[in-house]
Amino acid sequence: MSPPEPSDLVIVANRLPVDRITNPDGSPGWRGSPGGLVTAIEPIMRANSGIWVGWPGGTETGLEPFEYDGMTLDPISLSEDEIAGFYEGFSNATLWPLYHDLVAKPEFHREWWDSYVSVNQRFAERAASRAAKDATVWVQDYQLQLVPQLLRELRPDLRIGFYLHIPFPPAELFQQLPWRRQVLEGLLGADLVGFQMPGGAANFVRLVRQRVGHKTHRDLVYLPDDRTVRAAAFPISIDFKGFEELAKSDAVAKRATEIRNALGNPTKVFLGIDRLDYTKGIYARLRAFSELIRDDELDVEKAVFVQVATPSREQVEEYRVLRDEIDRLVGRINGDLGRIGRPVISYMHSSYPREEMAALYRAADVMVVTPYRDGMNLVAKEYVACRYDDLGALVLSEFAGAADELLEAVLVNPHDTSALRDAIVTAVEMNRHERRSRMAQLREDVRASDVQTWADRFLADLVAEAADQ
Ligand code: F6P
Repeated sequence: MSPPEPSDLVIVANRLPVDRITNPDGSPGWRGSPGGLVTAIEPIMRANSGIWVGWPGGTETGLEPFEYDGMTLDPISLSEDEIAGFYEGFSNATLWPLYHDLVAKPEFHREWWDSYVSVNQRFAERAASRAAKDATVWVQDYQLQLVPQLLRELRPDLRIGFYLHIPFPPAELFQQLPWRRQVLEGLLGADLVGFQMPGGAANFVRLVRQRVGHKTHRDLVYLPDDRTVRAAAFPISIDFKGFEELAKSDAVAKRATEIRNALGNPTKVFLGIDRLDYTKGIYARLRAFSELIRDDELDVEKAVFVQVATPSREQVEEYRVLRDEIDRLVGRINGDLGRIGRPVISYMHSSYPREEMAALYRAADVMVVTPYRDGMNLVAKEYVACRYDDLGALVLSEFAGAADELLEAVLVNPHDTSALRDAIVTAVEMNRHERRSRMAQLREDVRASDVQTWADRFLADLVAEAADQ
């Protein structure tokens, strides 16, 4: 396709919603890419015609903008060195653990930072070239925190929003970052900086006051050049109706039955679906479940835990270690406690399309979501959206952003194995009446604030904030 016309809305995210792959016959193709960001932004892109600038995975160069499933996608390529320095290094071995409460130890390397700066510059230049005059550019997530300022230098006419999909850490942790001031200044290029939780917005404003020295008042930062920047919470959500309709479809109903049959028709199916990430608490939940089987609180003939772990960041050391740990744990649990045709854990290291996920949600009696720290966790909301029968129970970590909204879930501290065991038992033994009324309330909560509401609120506030300048 020839270069797209400059657009009034440009989304800039590290990832495109599709990854470049090689088909079994050797031809190039596209496959949906993982993660909550893509799930959230896709419906917004379809509803508002815009351009999505992002990386399609891999190192292929020279890819032209193209139309995909009703969206205009504009690929940015990364070299092998940039994948190692910007993506695997600074984004996912420095910022990711630092922003998730140091669940793993962040590494600080100057070469990674240099790579982060130069890749952010390339994203900013591409966005500048795709945006029409006075357009809105909406920059997404921790991989691109310098883009707002770099873009403002190139195109002061633009309205620039930034949204952080992951938690923003307390000052005590953030200030370990050797480049803390540059990151804060990068974000201050935006008119509006959005966070999942009010706590993240407050952490940011406090750090700007302490570390950059700007005046602040409540959610506003006053810059020396007379601009103001607002920092506020916009809890993200999902396409509730889309998931509900999918779950109601005959194909998904049929597939859900097939899944339960294939599992040997157990009385209770427990489910976890996560990117294979050390923040998600997969090890802790599987261990707690296996203890319940070991101690005869659950019967292996009647209960099974289905765990889907979507491959993620496989070149990063911590992720390789985690994969080995989970492989070993699942092998040990099934070896010790399983029976012929009755594994304790049915484990898939694979990614699935939305239809299969909806079928799994429908097939599961209890969904177990136990991150140590999570910006929101959209899987929990997807499960709720798919339970149009008002059945099913949700076990949810107190440390997921979703716990602030989904108060009728069985909330748990995933660091506490006994509490995890109790939460799983509470969810499975809940009587039908209570399960129904809790799920009905959970569904109301998610329905009332879906992803369109989230985007509308953010974009309306961005317009208002930019108009005030
Ligand atoms: O939602 C958080 C996030 O890190 C997104 O920014 C990202 O696209 C997604 O998870 C998946 O991670 P990755 O792009 O590294 O595979």
